[in-house]
Amino acid sequence: MKEIKSSDYSVWIGDHSFSKLNISAYSKIAILVDENTKRYCFPKLQKLENSIVIEIKSGEEYKNINTCNFIWEQLTEHNFDRNSLLINLGGGVIGDMGGLCASTYKRGIDFVQIPTTLLSMVDASSGGKVGINFNQFKNHIGLFNNPKAVFISIDFLESLPENQLKSGFAEVVKHALISDNSLWKRLLSIPFVDLDWEDIIETSVHIKNKIFSADPFEKGERKKLNFGHTFGHAIESYYLEKGTPILHGEAVFMGMILETEISHLSETDKNEIKNYILSNFALPYTPKKYNLHKFLINDKKNQSGKINFSLLNKIGNCTIDNLFSTDEL
Ligand SMILES: NC(=O)c1ccc[n+]([C@@H]2O[C@H](COP(=O)([O-])OP(=O)(O)OC[C@H]3O[C@@H](n4cnc5c(N)ncnc54)[C@H](O)[C@@H]3O)[C@@H](O)[C@H]2O)c1
Repeated sequence: MKEIKSSDYSVWIGDHSFSKLNISAYSKIAILVDENTKRYCFPKLQKLENSIVIEIKSGEEYKNINTCNFIWEQLTEHNFDRNSLLINLGGGVIGDMGGLCASTYKRGIDFVQIPTTLLSMVDASSGGKVGINFNQFKNHIGLFNNPKAVFISIDFLESLPENQLKSGFAEVVKHALISDNSLWKRLLSIPFVDLDWEDIIETSVHIKNKIFSADPFEKGERKKLNFGHTFGHAIESYYLEKGTPILHGEAVFMGMILETEISHLSETDKNEIKNYILSNFALPYTPKKYNLHKFLINDKKNQSGKINFSLLNKIGNCTIDNLFSTDEL
C-alpha cells in the first residue's frame, strides 16, 4: 500500500487501503453510489455497520442542485449529525457532488473519496475542488474543501467500460506533458493495454499533488493543469449544444492537440504528441476553430477579453497565462 501525503490528508493506493479509515470515530456513515457503482463497486467494499446507502442516477446531467436536495434529505431523514461521514464511491460526478453535499450539510461533515473511474483516481478525487453544475454552466457552484482521505484501488477499473478508461487516460497524458518527461517516454514506449495501472496512477497523483499543493486556490502554478482544457471545454460545449455529448477525455485529447499546435515546441515534439494521441485513441471529429469561438469567449479563465491558455514550452514543462484573441487563434 502506498501513501501520498497532501496538505491535510493522504491519498492511499492499493487494495484494502480503505482499512486505514477509522470508522469507529463516526456516529453514522452514508455511502453515496450511482446505479453502476452500486452494482460493480459497492460489493467490493468491506461491510460497514451503522451505514446507509444513498443511490443517485449516474451521469453529468444529474450533477445538480436537485440531486443535492435528495442527498441532504436522506442525511436528514436518517438523523445524520455533525459527527457523521459521507463516503463517495464513484467517478468524478459522485466525488464532486458528494463532496459539496458533505461540505455544506450542517456546516460540514467529513467525507472520503473512493474513486472508481480512472479520471477520478488520477484527477477529480484530489485537489479539494467540489461542486455541481448550474443551468448550462459546468462546476458553477462549488468550493474548495479537502476530503479526510482518498482511497484508490485499481480493482474497481475491472468493470469500467473501455471508453471511460481511455477518457480518464487523457488526464494522465496531460500530467506527463505538463510536468514529467520521463512519464511521457514511458507512455510512448509501453502499449496502452500493457500499462501498469497502479504505477501510472501513483505517478499521476504525485504530479497533480505537487502542482496543486504549491497553489491550492489556482492563482498561478495550478493553472498548468488547464493545458488542453481551454479548447477541450469549448469542444465539450460544442458537442453538448449539438445534442451529441462526448466524453470529457475525448474533448481534452482534441484540446491538447489544438493547444500543442500553439505551444512553443519544435515540430518534432508537436508531431510526436499528435501522433501518439491519434494513433492510440479514436476521437470524434474536431470542430472548426471558428465554431468554437463563442464558447472560448465565455471561458471562465479569460483576461481582458483574451483567451487564457496554459501551453507547453517543452515536453514536461508548461507556462501559464498565454493570452490570445480569437483572431490570433
Ligand atoms: N474536482 C476536480 O478536480 C475534477 C477534475 C476533473 C473532473 N471533474 C469532474 O469529474 C466528472 C467526470 O468524472 P468521471 O469521468 O469519473 O465520470 P462519471 O462520474 O460520470 O463516471 C462515468 C461513468 O462510469 C460509471 N462508473 C463509475 N465507476 C465505474 C466502475 N468502476 N465500473 C463501471 N462503471 C463505473 C458511472 O456510473 C458513470 O456512468 C465531471 O463532472 C468533472 O467536472 C472534477
